[in-house]
Order: sequence, then C-alpha cells, then structure tokens
Amino acid sequence: MLGPVYRIKSALWQSEVVVISDHLGVKHIFDQAYTYIKSPAFQPLVVKVGGRGLIWAEGDEHRFQRKMVSPAFSISAIKKMGPSVMICIDKMIQRIQKECNDKLTMLNMCEYVPACTLAIIGQVGFGYGFGPETPNGKAILDAWQKDVQLFSTFSAFLAPILIGIFPWIAKLPIKEFQEDSTAKKVIHMIGNELLQEPPNMDGTDVFSILVRESWEGKLKPDGERHIAGFSTTSGVVQLVLLDLAQKPDTQAKLRAELVAADSSNIDDIESLPYLDAVTREGLRLRPTSHDTSRVAIRDDVIPLKKPVMLSNGETVTSIPVKAGDSFVIPFLVMNSDAQVWGPDAHEFVPERWITEGALPSGSELPHGPYSHLSNFIDGPRVCIGWRLAVQEIKLILASMIKNFEFRDTGVKVEKYFSPTVQPFVNGEGAQLPLQVIPIQHY
Ligand code: HEM
Repeated sequence: MLGPVYRIKSALWQSEVVVISDHLGVKHIFDQAYTYIKSPAFQPLVVKVGGRGLIWAEGDEHRFQRKMVSPAFSISAIKKMGPSVMICIDKMIQRIQKECNDKLTMLNMCEYVPACTLAIIGQVGFGYGFGPETPNGKAILDAWQKDVQLFSTFSAFLAPILIGIFPWIAKLPIKEFQEDSTAKKVIHMIGNELLQEPPNMDGTDVFSILVRESWEGKLKPDGERHIAGFSTTSGVVQLVLLDLAQKPDTQAKLRAELVAADSSNIDDIESLPYLDAVTREGLRLRPTSHDTSRVAIRDDVIPLKKPVMLSNGETVTSIPVKAGDSFVIPFLVMNSDAQVWGPDAHEFVPERWITEGALPSGSELPHGPYSHLSNFIDGPRVCIGWRLAVQEIKLILASMIKNFEFRDTGVKVEKYFSPTVQPFVNGEGAQLPLQVIPIQHY
C-alpha cells in the first residue's frame, strides 16, 4: 500500500526506521554488508544463543570467518552431504510409518520435521547423532519447543523494543539474557569432545572440514559452531506440508512426478521440475524469517529501481543515508507483493515457476542465490547454508509425499513468528496436526 520505500516511527521514542523492499535498494544494502550492519544492541544476545560465530561477526572478523567456513558449504561439499541427509530422512519416515500402522492417523508434524532437520545438522555439521532418541537431541528439541512458546508472549514482543532503547538491558543479570542457549551448551560440549580426538581425515561434515583446516594451520576451531538453520528449514517444510494438505491436487501432481521418476539418485530428485517449483513456492510464501534489519555505520546513498515521491511532492531516484539510520528489509513483502507477482501473489501456486510467461522478467523480481527469492538475502552475508537448506527441503518433501498422503484436519492452524515462523493451534506453539495415510508401493 505504501510502496517500496517508506519511513515509519519506531516503538516508544526510538528514531524512525526506513522499510525498504525496492529490489535495487535492498541489493545495495546487502552488497554493502560492512556499511549496513546488524544492530549492535542485540550482539550480547546473539552470543548467548549461538556464540561468536558467523551470525555474530561483523567487519574483518566476519570476512575472516566467512572465508574459513565457505569451503564446507561449497556445491561439492553439499553434494557429499546428500547421503547423510537421506539417512536422517529415512529414519523420520520409519518413525511416521510406525505410528500410522497402515491407516489414517492424525499426527503433529512438529514432532517429526524439526527432529529430522536437527538430526541432519548434527550429521552434516559434526558427524554426530542428534536424533530425537539421543539425550542431546532431546534436550535441544525440548528447549526449542519452550522457546517457540516463550517467543509468542507479550514480554518477548516487548524485549527487543526495550533492548533497542536501552542496550544495557541485555547485560543485566537476568537468567534468560545471561544463560547460554541449550543448543550452544550442547554444541560447545560436543565440539570440545570431538577436538580431543584425532581429526577424521575423510569426514564430509562441516566440523571435520574445519578441523582439517585447523591442522593445516588455517583456522583455530573453538567448538562454538552453532546449529543455524534447523528451525528455519523445518518451518518451511512444515508449512509447505500444510499447503499441500490443503491443496490435494497439487499434492497428487507432485506425487505423480516423484513416482514416475522412481529414482533413489539424489541429483535426479533435486532436479525434478515440479518439486523445484513447489520448493520455490514454499520459500516464497512461507519465509521462516519475515524480515531482517540493518543500521548504517557511515553516510551513503541508496539507489532505487523505482522513483519514490517524498511527502513534499519531490520525486527521487535514490535516498541519502546518515550514519545511524535504521532499515528493515521485509522478505515477506518482497516475495508476495501483488504488484510484482500478480493478483494471486498470496496463493500457493507452484505452476507460476514453470509456466511460460507466468513470472515477470527477472529484473522485476528479488535478487538472491536461489533465483528470484529474497529469503536467503544476498551479498557477502548471504545465508551460507542456502544450498543445504534447498537440498533438505527438496529431499524431505520428496520422501514425505512419496510415502504418505497428507490431509487437512480442519483444525485452524495459525502462523506466528516465534522467533522463526511456526504453526500454532489455540495459542499453543509447535502444533501442526495433519491426517497421514501411508502409501503402499508395489
Ligand atoms: C530455509 C532455511 C533457511 C533460511 C530461510 C535462512 C535464511 C537466512 C538469512 C535471511 C540469513 C541472513 C540473516 C541476516 O544477516 O540478517 C541467513 C544467514 C545465515 N544462515 Fe541461513 N537460512 C536457512 C537455512 C540455513 C542452514 C541450513 C544453515 C546452516 C547449516 C544456515 C546458516 C546460516 C549462517 C551461518 C548465516 C550467517 C551468514 C553470515 O552472516 O555470513 N542457514 N540465513
């Protein structure tokens, strides 16, 4: 309604924020990652959740960490992770099959999908079993379920506003602020255990790759690798399962493609066109983070693709920036703006990705590594795990839809950002009831 650039008042008496979804402007902000940084007020909390890793680092520290970690996320490294990803998915399929017993059963998918994506991160990140049956896996999943509930409360809504105004709040001796997250504690412990052992010279997981690099003198590992990407990936998969349950024809079309391909070759599955379209549409419409924000640390000028009219009637093609100005970049808006995507922008229509002429030209669409989607941002801080995330989403959806039929239960499922988008039923978080019917393959 307000167009691709507008200025709004922040909560209480904080300075104004510019909300920007103009594709050129957003690309500029992400490309200038060391001019537009994350708000320093939240850094102490980021350390508690994930340690002083990539997500926390800025400037030269970020450049250094990124260079060291990148080889572990290259195309060939992700390809090698495929078989480990499939092992975790097969275990999830077996767990669901056990519950279903050849008949229609109502299951909460949040008990299966996050456990699977966590197990995947354990395997491909550390070569370590984080399955739901292990004490460490269970500890992280339980803590995550509590967090989903906690983040949906009014205090959790208020906390970032207050920290934005009084950054010292994050340093107060409040247990929630000062205690390391369960995930960080577990990862720290496992990292230190693994570092006592000789490095696995053949391991394809991220940790083995980093430890090998450290032996070659390139890196000092600190055991603080976090489990980024476990709840973001599961959030997308869960909500796409709900979309497919509500659109039986789309689900049947995807199943027909998977059955016809009848391949256990991971590359073949990943290149199926309709599965790719469903994955893109899922990411487009169900971005698990709805936005990100940045603060400029020096004066600059942001170029705009579409001219904007100011309140004084003047039309500008760029906006001047002063050090300290804040920006919000709304992925959800960029991925579902009806002026860009058309009148069905808010509907789940995978066909738009494969029908000739259904999409506007590339220059009208957001920039990103997985083309035309803003979910993984862009530039030097582009999500390092995006290839793994896309691989996981495709392989999980392929196995789920091939093995089960999913039906909507009629229960109203609401979607809240808590802190990534999660399904809620009657105010209770991590709830996605679906009816599941096993499919017999002859
Ligand atoms: C659907 C799944 C995922 C989505 C939507 C997603 C999205 C994002 C976004 C938006 C950012 C940038 C945040 C910012 O700078 O404001 C990011 C950064 C990052 N992501 Fe992901 N991510 C996903 C999966 C993963 C996975 C699977 C991993 C790792 C295994 C991962 C690891 C990271 C890391 C380490 C960063 C920080 C990169 C840096 O600052 O240099 N993500 N992700």
